[in-house]
Amino acid sequence: MRKPLIIANWKMNHSIEDSLKFITVLQNKLTFKSHAEVVICPPYTALYSLSVLIQEKEGLILGAQNCYYGESGAFTGEISPVFLAELGVSYVIVGHSERRNLFGETDELISQKVQSVLACNMKPIICIGETINERNDGKTLGVIENQLKQAISLVDKKDLGKIVIAYEPIWAIGTKQNATPGQACEAHQHIRGLLVKIANQNLAHEIRIIYGGSVQPTNINELMREKDIDGALIGGASLEVDSFLQMINYHEIK
Ligand code: PGA
Repeated sequence: MRKPLIIANWKMNHSIEDSLKFITVLQNKLTFKSHAEVVICPPYTALYSLSVLIQEKEGLILGAQNCYYGESGAFTGEISPVFLAELGVSYVIVGHSERRNLFGETDELISQKVQSVLACNMKPIICIGETINERNDGKTLGVIENQLKQAISLVDKKDLGKIVIAYEPIWAIGTKQNATPGQACEAHQHIRGLLVKIANQNLAHEIRIIYGGSVQPTNINELMREKDIDGALIGGASLEVDSFLQMINYHEIK
C-alpha cells in the first residue's frame, strides 16, 4: 500500500512569522489520521523555525524546495543537502519546472541533486512535466519519460523505492487549469510502466507518483480517487490554512 502524500510547496511566499502562524493554526486544527503523509516545504529562511515547531508536535513532515548537490565548498548562495538533513528535512523537491525554466537547471544537474539528496537519507520529489506545445504535438509521454530517465540516471537501483515522482504539466501550474484525472492517469501509468522496466515489479509499485498543477479543494477529491494518483504537490492553494486543511482531508470533501 502506498501512503498518500500531500505536499505544500509555498514557493517564495510566507515570512518566518507567517510560516509559524500557519503551522501553529494547522497543528491545532489537524486531527491526525494516518491516511496521508503531510509535507510542508517553506522557504529556506523558515526551515529552522518550523523544524523546531514540527518536532514539538508530531504529524507534519518538513520538506525543502531545492538544494545544491555539493556537500560544502565555494558555491555562493547555494544550500547543501547535508545542511538540510541537519535541520530534520525529510523530502526535497528537485527539478521543479520553475527551477528548470527560470534558473536554467538541466537534466544533468537534476540527476546530481537527486543522487545527493538520497545520499543524505532524504527523499527527492522529482518533478517532471510537459509544456502545452509538447502536449499539443503529442510528445507528452516521450518528454516525461526522458526527464525521468535522466533524473534517476545516477540512482542506485536499491534506492529507487525512496524517490517520489511528481507529474506536473507545466501548463497546469498556477493556471487554475488542472489536468483531468484521465490526463494525469495516462502520464502516471506510463511512468509506472517505465519504473517496472527499470526497477523490479515490487520496488516499482512502492514508488509514489503524485500529481501537481492547480490542485484545489474543488478538484483534489476526483484526482485522488484515481488509484494511479498517490498524492498531490500543491502550490497556490496550500498558502491558506483552511484550503490546505481541506485538501489534507480530501476524502471528506463531497
Ligand atoms: P500550483 O503549483 O498548485 O500553484 O499550480 C504547483 C507547483 O508548482 O508545485
